[in-house]
Amino acid sequence: MNSLLTAILETFKNSFGSEPALLVRSPGRINLIGEHTDYNMGFVLPAAIDREMIFAISPRPDQTCRTIAYNLNREETFTTDNLTKSDEKWTYYLKGVIDQIQKLGYEINGFDLVFGGNIPVGAGVSSSAALEAGLAFALNEIFKLGIPKMTLVQLCQRAENQFVGLNCGIMDMFASLMGETDSVIRLDCRSLEYEYFPFTQEEHVLVLCDTGVKHSLGTSEYNTRRQECERGVAILQAHKPSIQSLRDVDMALLLEHEAEFDPITFKRCKYMVGEIQRVVEACKDLQANDLEAFGQKMYETHDGLQHDYAVSCEELDFLVDQTRNNPSVLGARMMGGGFGGCTINLVKKEDADQFITEMTQAYKEGLNLDLVTHKVVIKKGTSRIEVTSEQA
Ligand code: GLA
Repeated sequence: MNSLLTAILETFKNSFGSEPALLVRSPGRINLIGEHTDYNMGFVLPAAIDREMIFAISPRPDQTCRTIAYNLNREETFTTDNLTKSDEKWTYYLKGVIDQIQKLGYEINGFDLVFGGNIPVGAGVSSSAALEAGLAFALNEIFKLGIPKMTLVQLCQRAENQFVGLNCGIMDMFASLMGETDSVIRLDCRSLEYEYFPFTQEEHVLVLCDTGVKHSLGTSEYNTRRQECERGVAILQAHKPSIQSLRDVDMALLLEHEAEFDPITFKRCKYMVGEIQRVVEACKDLQANDLEAFGQKMYETHDGLQHDYAVSCEELDFLVDQTRNNPSVLGARMMGGGFGGCTINLVKKEDADQFITEMTQAYKEGLNLDLVTHKVVIKKGTSRIEVTSEQA
């Protein structure tokens, strides 16, 4: 049994005096391409990874929720009928999920919970979605609610939108809950249809380079970007009422109406319309096993995020620039919401260690900063942990 799981179990037993009824793991996510497209009803290509949160949980006969955040060494007790915001921000994700389950008409009791994990926080790999997804999954199991997985995804998104206050799209929770081993998932964020694409990392691996710059999407420009996209939709809707999102817009139409846009809104929309199309093309590259072409599109995405969507930062741009003439790297770009966090790099497997060494050196020499890297393995989404008697 891994040490994290042992520590979570020990903490549970010491705090609550019994074994947990259920153990759940809930992973962070990467996204190969399709950034900020989810709330524009476009496509994304995420996967769940081997950085995860572990939950030890038991139902209670009353309404009390005793919750312990292992990594933070913090705890809070609250009741399901009084979900108010406290100073403990981490509880918002838990309370938001309970709130949404209740809003769907389910009555649930309280629970005892210890959770903790190894997902870097603020690094663009969605530790918050993993937290929401893990709790939603666990409550669905221990209270036998029978909520379908896609409904869990959607309620986690609403928890983040309504309780936490970040107007995020559906990608992160979707990836965390729906991930499959060695597969990336193309999700159509409009129809919610999805398709798994094998991604085995036999010859090429995915390496995350963490800038160490902690983004805080809530206070960042994330919600502003959403509004800018909506402004673009409103302009175009006046000409074509069937347009509901930037998914419904093609580049020709956008260019035709450029004069009606302020320059900022136009740039945002230009990136977005291009990116939605790019994911479709990138999936064809994947199907054709043309990772060179796929990697080029990752660079195009970064350029758009840097110059037109303006959600990058100096450290992210530096890390991407370092790879541009490196023959070991097929593609690189910033990943996630932006303003910090990680770059995702598609690297030839035999060169991966060398790549990590070079990037670490360059980051130190160029910006005098220490680089943290992660070779990620693509894993199954949120699921039960079965502990066998020999392990326990
Ligand atoms: C954050 C949000 C997602 C998505 C990405 C950008 O991770 O939570 O919904 O918008 O940013 O692609």
